[in-house]
This record gives sequence, structure tokens and C-alpha cells, in this order.
Amino acid sequence: MLNVALPKGRLGEKVYAMFEAAGFECPSIKENNRKLIFENEEKQVRYFWVKPSDVAIYVERGAADIGVAGKDILLEYNPDIYELLDLNLGKCRMAVAAPDDFYDDGNRRLKVATKFTNIAADYYASIGREIDIIKLNGSIEIAPILKLSDVIVDIVETGTTLKENNLSVKNTIVPISARLIANKSSFKFKGTQIEKIVQSIREQVKAND
Ligand code: PRP
Repeated sequence: MLNVALPKGRLGEKVYAMFEAAGFECPSIKENNRKLIFENEEKQVRYFWVKPSDVAIYVERGAADIGVAGKDILLEYNPDIYELLDLNLGKCRMAVAAPDDFYDDGNRRLKVATKFTNIAADYYASIGREIDIIKLNGSIEIAPILKLSDVIVDIVETGTTLKENNLSVKNTIVPISARLIANKSSFKFKGTQIEKIVQSIREQVKAND
């Protein structure tokens, strides 16, 4: 049985469609209920819906053989997994944003609010700027408005949230997209099944490009 951790939500539904097209369908997943685990014994596959930021934990610890996680989570937590494929879905970027009129004169430590403390710390270390990190868990955009921080490091997709809060992107740190990931020992022991899925999904990604 191949265990697949899918990120709950719209991205996960698109990803499931790719697995289905690869020949690993599981019709019960489309039933309208609140179940979280679905399996198709004939195809030897089991899917489960997890919080997107938890997928890498399931895969790293082997509770899932493969899964789909955002590059943001992989960069932030650096899980010990294999990254097999860029799915070209869930595209956005990790960026530094601040009030439209903000200018960093470099005179004092920069206050940075973010959910992604490692990404922010690595980025500012790479440009040699000293910072104080303020870890938040959501609604990051509020921080510079209330002067909790000077800037934020956060995900920008359409840019609407920033715009509606009079913030703008100052620097892009890294582009983000969804990645197919595998547990290292599963990749060894269930390699044939995983490789079959990877090949089909790789072709689908190319065809959608
Ligand atoms: C993310 C991110 C921004 C928003 C960006 O939040 O933190 O707030 O999406 O999208 P946009 O550029 O299209 O406006 P998410 O919805 O993941 O919720 P969060 O507040 O928990 O981070």
C-alpha cells in the first residue's frame, strides 16, 4: 500500500486529479463527507488529507510515503525528505513587504514580523543586515501597520492582501510552488510504484506548461 499525504484544500484537489490521471484513482475520495482517509485496495493506494504545513512531517517520519508540500515549508523546516518534482501549482513568492513609503536607512536593527523565521533569518544573514525577528502565526500584514515591525516576510500570491493594506513588495526572496516529496526509505522500498507516479505526473506538468 502506498500512503499519500495530500494538502487539504483546492491545491490538494488539483493534485489528487493528477494522481487519478496517473492511474491511481480512489473514487471514494469524492464522496461528500468529512472522512480524512481513503483507500483503493485494488490500486494499492491510500490517500489522506492533512493540513498543508503538516505534509512534510508525515512524509519525513514515514507515516506517508509521498506527499505534496509547498517549497516555503521545505525551506523553512528543511525536512529530511527527497524533493522529486516541481508541480508548477500553487505558485507564489516569498517576499519582504512594508508600508508603501517605508525606506530602510540601515541605522538600526530591522524589526521583521513573519511566520517563516528561518527563511527570514537566512535571507537577512545573506545580505548582512541585522534584524529582530517577531514570530507571528497569521495576518502578518497587520504588524507594520501597527508598528509592531518595520517589515514583514510573507507569501505573496496575487498581491491583493498587500495592496488592500497599503503595503508593497520591497524584495522577492524566492519563488514558491508545490513539490512532490518522498520519504527516503519509501523511495528505496516502494520505488517502482513511486517512479510510475512521478513519470506520469512529470508528463502532466509538462503538458500543462
Ligand atoms: C497568505 C499570505 C498572505 C496572503 C497572500 O495567507 O500570508 O496573507 O496569503 O495572498 P495574496 O497575495 O493573493 O493576497 P493565508 O491565506 O495562507 O493565511 P495566513 O494569514 O494564515 O497566512
